[in-house]
Amino acid sequence: NLMANDQSKQGMGGEPHQVSGGDDPRLTTNQGLVVSDDQNTLTVGPRGPQALEDFVMREKITHFDHERIPERVVHARGYGAHGYFEPYESAADLTKAAFLQDPKQRTPVFVRFSTVAGRAGSFDTARDVRGFAVKFYTSEGNYDLVGNNIPVFFIQDAIKFPDLIHSVKPAPDRDFPQAQSAHDTFWDFVSLSPESTHMLMWIMSDRAIPRSFRMMDGFGVHTFRMINAKGEAKFVKFHWRPKLGALSLVWDEAVTINGADPDFHRRDLWNSIQAGDFPEWDFCVQEFTEEEAEGFDFDVLDPTKIVPEEIVPLRRLGRMVLDRTVDNFFAETEQVAFCPSHVVPGIDFSNDPLLQGRLFSYLDTQLSRLGSPNFHQIPINQPKCPMQNFQRDGHMQMDVPTGRVANEPNSLDEGSPREDPERGFTSYPAEESGQKLRVRPESFADHYSQARQFYKSMTDPEKRHIAGGFAFELGKCKELKVRKRMLGRLQLVHEELHDAVAKKLGMEGEAEKLEPAAPVLDPDPSPALSQYAGF
Ligand code: HEM
Repeated sequence: NLMANDQSKQGMGGEPHQVSGGDDPRLTTNQGLVVSDDQNTLTVGPRGPQALEDFVMREKITHFDHERIPERVVHARGYGAHGYFEPYESAADLTKAAFLQDPKQRTPVFVRFSTVAGRAGSFDTARDVRGFAVKFYTSEGNYDLVGNNIPVFFIQDAIKFPDLIHSVKPAPDRDFPQAQSAHDTFWDFVSLSPESTHMLMWIMSDRAIPRSFRMMDGFGVHTFRMINAKGEAKFVKFHWRPKLGALSLVWDEAVTINGADPDFHRRDLWNSIQAGDFPEWDFCVQEFTEEEAEGFDFDVLDPTKIVPEEIVPLRRLGRMVLDRTVDNFFAETEQVAFCPSHVVPGIDFSNDPLLQGRLFSYLDTQLSRLGSPNFHQIPINQPKCPMQNFQRDGHMQMDVPTGRVANEPNSLDEGSPREDPERGFTSYPAEESGQKLRVRPESFADHYSQARQFYKSMTDPEKRHIAGGFAFELGKCKELKVRKRMLGRLQLVHEELHDAVAKKLGMEGEAEKLEPAAPVLDPDPSPALSQYAGF
């Protein structure tokens, strides 16, 4: 009854007051008080000053003023969807994780895809790593596999992560550029960190400009452990394989799309799920024993290395289907908190120093991003299994724990939560010993063999794209000494690649002479690395 309202709200000067109209359901303040007018501030006379007592206006504006929370320090731009996971068969021989035992048991999941370097408002088809984070709401607690679409990483030790990220973020004085790679600091950092070389091959390849989230691989990157009910452990590498195949854009397409539709990837995911065309991935592992790992010519604790599929083939454990878009982007996609230390019995860590640092970083950053130690109570973060302990109080406590006891041990409350040595999580009892040192293992020193293998595995168009990516991005670096150092690294990867990039940059014969810290092996190509070999 907008008309009636309009007439009844005739102002003294004859101007109609604006009202949104209707009275069911009734609009209220946060205290439940029904609001009579949400469109006009309380004033002294129609043209007079505002009354300070206008709590309706103040509450509305105050809440609006606090709508934003800090964006993620990395992976700020992301897009999420709900779905489910189901195993193809029992993986009991490998792990006791409950969600991998029974093909009839579906586990709900929430997935967030992201770019790493750009801000929340940056564009989708930037050249960048894509985050591929999966939260499994299992019957034994939430398991988070916080991975990327590239199986290796820039650095070997988490203590270098702030430096890496600072080098790709906008320069402190000028606050540009937004896109990764295009600035001096990035090339300076990576050319001084030879461990980045293998990752650079991937990031300059077509993998870094995926066609769609639906057509993207996912990787756990680090070596993890799986442990079965007998207590037997194996090392594993996790892989997500898209049923649609791993497809990419070419650079010109990516640039054009960035201008025409910066939301290209999120729109694509939303549209396909809304249309009932549900994206699907196979969940696979490479499994190997510690003894087998000792025989490899690289260290499986080094996150700049893959385990070639020719050495250890993939075993398909199950499938993940994304079949529901979010109801509210902020409540779900923005407030979801993934953390590599969210594991379940049957899954454990390795000593990979990058992983070990990540186990600390995520909870720590989320305490400031989400602003309260109780963020596990936000619906998207709540486990879907019983959860109780003696943690109490804190900002934004939403639960109302009852009872007089909040301590363990106690004999006063028989019904209070108790430890379960049988079914509770126990860390894998790996034997560890050694001196306390700050040192990089010698087994991490070969930075070029797998980079070379990657290059050799590519088809000719992929090789051209990689050289084009290096030439374009390194061409944005104004510092000649940095370009020369980087050309020196490329020379150690492959002469052909170096020559192509040097020619495009007009810098033939200018590469800095660099010595590899370990002999560069010349592994055979690995066909599994090429996206296009099968086409
Ligand atoms: C966020 C993956 C290395 C710190 C993320 C996200 C992903 C991811 C997928 C986004 C999660 C989301 O969608 O909310 C990875 C992978 C890494 C890696 C695969 C290496 C293999 C690191 C390291 C650190 C780190 C070494 C720090 C020591 C963070 C932080 C966030 C983040 C602080 C933001 C989390 C939040 O605000 O919720 N990472 N990351 N990451 N990562 Fe990493």
